[in-house]
Parts: sequence; structure tokens; C-alpha cells
Amino acid sequence: MLYTLSLRKVAKYRADMNQTTTTQPLRWEDSKLVILDQRRLPGAIEFIEASDYLQVADAIKEMCVRGAPAIGVAGAYGAVLGALKVQTQDREAFLRQLRNIVDTLLRTRPTAVNLRWALERIELAAERGSDVSGIKALITEEAKKIHREEADATDRLSEYGADLIAGCATIMTHCNAGALATCGCGTALGVIRAAARQGKIERVIVDETRPLFQGARLTAWELKQEGIPVTLIVDSAAGHFLSRGLVNCVIVGADRIAANGDTANKIGTYSVADLASENGVPFYVAAPVSTVDLSLSSGDQIPIEERRPEEVTGIGSTRFAATGIQVANPAFDVTPSRYITAIITDRGVARPPYQVSLSRLIKGHA
Ligand code: MRU
Repeated sequence: MLYTLSLRKVAKYRADMNQTTTTQPLRWEDSKLVILDQRRLPGAIEFIEASDYLQVADAIKEMCVRGAPAIGVAGAYGAVLGALKVQTQDREAFLRQLRNIVDTLLRTRPTAVNLRWALERIELAAERGSDVSGIKALITEEAKKIHREEADATDRLSEYGADLIAGCATIMTHCNAGALATCGCGTALGVIRAAARQGKIERVIVDETRPLFQGARLTAWELKQEGIPVTLIVDSAAGHFLSRGLVNCVIVGADRIAANGDTANKIGTYSVADLASENGVPFYVAAPVSTVDLSLSSGDQIPIEERRPEEVTGIGSTRFAATGIQVANPAFDVTPSRYITAIITDRGVARPPYQVSLSRLIKGHA
């Protein structure tokens, strides 16, 4: 389903990429979704040009595009691609087909709530149209709006977050919550970028983030491109650095935040949060409000994606574990809110008790 592009197109996308200050994971061009294939980074810059929603579904499942906000934006454009190909002029039949397209996209990755959030917006926009061509125009505009708004949200939350950083800070982060994951400047990395512009960042300690190495491949690369000093460590070294007073704070992104502040993020985040708490190091979560799911009272209700065993038994095509062994590969874990010092959103900073502060931030702006 996924396919590569002509060399001329690749050259054009690469040239365009060099014009932007951050490496963007997605662009909408000529009614197609151009996806930077993050599986190949940082070794190769390759793009997928999706003209069909099933291609987008595959790109999300296979993690060509990843990171909660970027998955939401990709899902929205995916629904548009599917809808643009629907032939009927009957409004109700069209809406039924759109629902099937949305369901397929929803099934790709279950943990990041941004996907559901974006697809619900597309369906609501569709309901506003009185005929099929009107609906197609409305949902295309809505997807572009979601894209713009999610990018703007990262700018706002980055400024709120930078205010929390004291000068000369060494910050630890886990996974990739950068431009690649968000369609903006990043959440955790957005805060770090904003603090770096204010001269407050000494160094960023990046966990490699097994099994797919988003820290080593993506975060370290994004920071290096920007000239922000990076030290890459194996995941199991986090406690060592936290216990020796070598980290001023931890900042991570989120895939879903429950009403009580419990936060699902990349597997391993919970261990880092626990170790940060044990060592008195502030632990911040940075996320747009599209990642907050007030319908869930606590984190134990967040669905956790289980991925292929091969991601654990080897790297790429190299297998290192014995054949026939049992493997568990949860892609996310849930950090209890008691470990979270503050949640930095695009509407301000929420502090405990999160039941009150998050609901105030979200409903206060409804
Ligand atoms: O499996 P991934 O790479 O999609 O997981 C990404 C993360 O866990 C990120 O930290 C999270 O989505 C926040 S992105 C701003």
C-alpha cells in the first residue's frame, strides 16, 4: 500500500523541507497528503504521497507518521482523502461511507486520543453540510484548520512551559515529542526550544526509547539540527542521571491524559517519572488540550496498544532473541498523576489537583 515517489518529487519535498525551521511530518498538497517517513530517519529522508485513506491508515499503523498530535492531523486528512473519492450524491449514503472510513482510521492506533478528537471534528463538520460537494469542501477546510490549530497550540504551550525552566537547565526527555510528532515545534521539545531561545538550556539528556528508538533516532536528531546540546543515554541509565543530581527537570509529551491527570505516554515514561519523584526532580507533561480525555476518570481506562513481538526480539531485520520465546510489547504506559509536577497545555499550566485544574482549562474555554 505504501509507495515511494519520483526522484523529482523527493527533491522538491526536500527543498521545501529546508525552508522550514523545523522538520514537519506532514503537508497537504494538491489534494494529497505528503508524509515524511519517520521509520527511515535520520538515515534517509523519504516521503510517502498518500492519495487514498487506506494508505494513511497504513502509514499511521506502521509509524511512518507518529506522535499523538501528528496522528490526529494525519487521520483528519485521511478521512478527507477517503471522502473525496466517495461517488454518491446522496447525503445520508455519503455520511454512512464517511463513518466507515473514520472507523478504519480509528482502529489504526488506540492510545493517542488526538486521533479520535480529530476524526470527531471531521464528522461534526460533515454534519454541517447540506449536500455532498458542500460536505467535501467543509471537511477539507476542517482538516486544514485542525492542522493549523495544532501547530499554533505547540507555540503557545512552549511559551508557558519555558517560563517553568530556570536558567542553565539540564532536561531529560523520553521518546520524541518534537516537531516530528506534532506538526508544530513540538510539545516537550517545543518547551525545550523556547527555553533554549531564552538561553536557559545547558543540555538535554535523551533516553534512547526502546523498542523503536524514537529518542535516539528522532529527538537527538531534531535537537542536533537546532544546535541544542544533546546527550543520548540508554533507557536504563535514566535512574543513574536522576539520582546524581545531573537533571534539573524531566519533560515528556503525552498520548492521552485522563481527567485526574494520569498520563499515557511512550513505554518507559512511568519508570522515569517514578525515578524523578524518588529523587525530587520535577516531572512535567507537555501536551495540547486535544490530548486531554475528560471522559476517562483515571488512567487505568486508557487503552494501551500492544505492538508486534518483532519490535522486541530484534532491530530492523536483525533478530537477537531466541526463536519461540513469549514477548509482551505494550507501546505505552500510564504515569500516575501523583508523579506529575504540572501539565503544560496550550491553555496554560495545570497543577494538582488535576480533576479541578484540567477541567477548568478545558471547560473554561468551551
Ligand atoms: O509510538 P509513538 O512514537 O507514536 O509514541 C509517541 C509518544 O509517546 C509521544 O511522546 C507522544 O505521542 C507525544 S507527541 C507530542
